[in-house]
Amino acid sequence: MACYQLISLLLCSVLVIASGSNTKRNLPIISFDEGYSHLFGDDNLMVLRDGKSVHLSLDERTGSGFMSHDLYLHGFFSASIKLPSDYTAGVVVAFYMSNGDMYEKNHDEIDFEFLGNVRGKDWRIQTNVYGNGSVSVGREERYNLWFDPSEGFHQYSILWSEAHIIFYVDDVPIRETVRTEAMGGHFPSKPMSLYATIWDGSDWATNGGKYRVNYKYAPYVAQFSDLVLHGCTVDPITNPLKCERTLAPESTPGRTITPSQRLKMENFRKKHMTYSYCYDRARYNLPPPECVISAQEAEGLRRSDPVTFGGGRRHRGRRHHHAHAVRAEITSA
Ligand SMILES: *[C@@H]1O[C@H](CO)[C@@H](O)[C@H](O)[C@H]1NC(C)=O
Repeated sequence: MACYQLISLLLCSVLVIASGSNTKRNLPIISFDEGYSHLFGDDNLMVLRDGKSVHLSLDERTGSGFMSHDLYLHGFFSASIKLPSDYTAGVVVAFYMSNGDMYEKNHDEIDFEFLGNVRGKDWRIQTNVYGNGSVSVGREERYNLWFDPSEGFHQYSILWSEAHIIFYVDDVPIRETVRTEAMGGHFPSKPMSLYATIWDGSDWATNGGKYRVNYKYAPYVAQFSDLVLHGCTVDPITNPLKCERTLAPESTPGRTITPSQRLKMENFRKKHMTYSYCYDRARYNLPPPECVISAQEAEGLRRSDPVTFGGGRRHRGRRHHHAHAVRAEITSA
């Protein structure tokens, strides 16, 4: 076994089960104090009595956030999240992994970002991946959901292995980024910490900044529970790449998404995906190398946004600059 500590060894062997499919509910849930620390926002971060659930709020003074004590190289990371309801335009809740504080110029990042909306309109989710400082190549996708995420808790998970990254909503894989050789350093490959934050994204989050945060409705409270940190902890100084080999056999694509899950993923993407960088020809003449173009997805996107994704009018398409804005906000948070 490549894991160098007994603890890591245990984690690695359980990970084999975790990546199987639906067993993630059985993963150990540690207390907030064991796994995480305050990042910012003073008492806008509130740990509940059970020691495991956390409220992050945003008001006119500040947002708030927390991060994992440890750095992880690969693993399964998950949280049950209930988003603020009612008027939430401009509000951003982020659940993500990053090493931006250690590698300023060549950081890695894997993001779930939840973008608030005006009353009566649903939250949207965005996912993104950066590797080795690839901030000039945004790899965003956006989706709507098949439920109201402010009405109850739902589980949002990131599976990160040497071979691929899978984003899950509950038991549905919604995105898989398979590592290709051509991606090179753009595939996240250095240890990262896990973060959760809420912040004011007025300039960007809702219709490109058209609807801003309205503090009349504050505080905006995002609730977190069932926090799962399930990866190999590494010491970035002495041995940053230690768990790699142990995880590789289990991370072979196809072994971690069953055929029925893959079908769910295809259906989700066809019905709920509203933006994907892979299909944005105004932005990338040639889709980045990891993109697998699907006729179904292309058709779904054309239906949802004919201006950006419809054939001949593409060169009039709008451009998407917000990747940088979001990244800057998150890393400066
Ligand atoms: C990451 O970026 C640095 C420059 O910032 C470069 O020297 C290095 O080769 C890159 N690593 C990979 C794996 O591409």
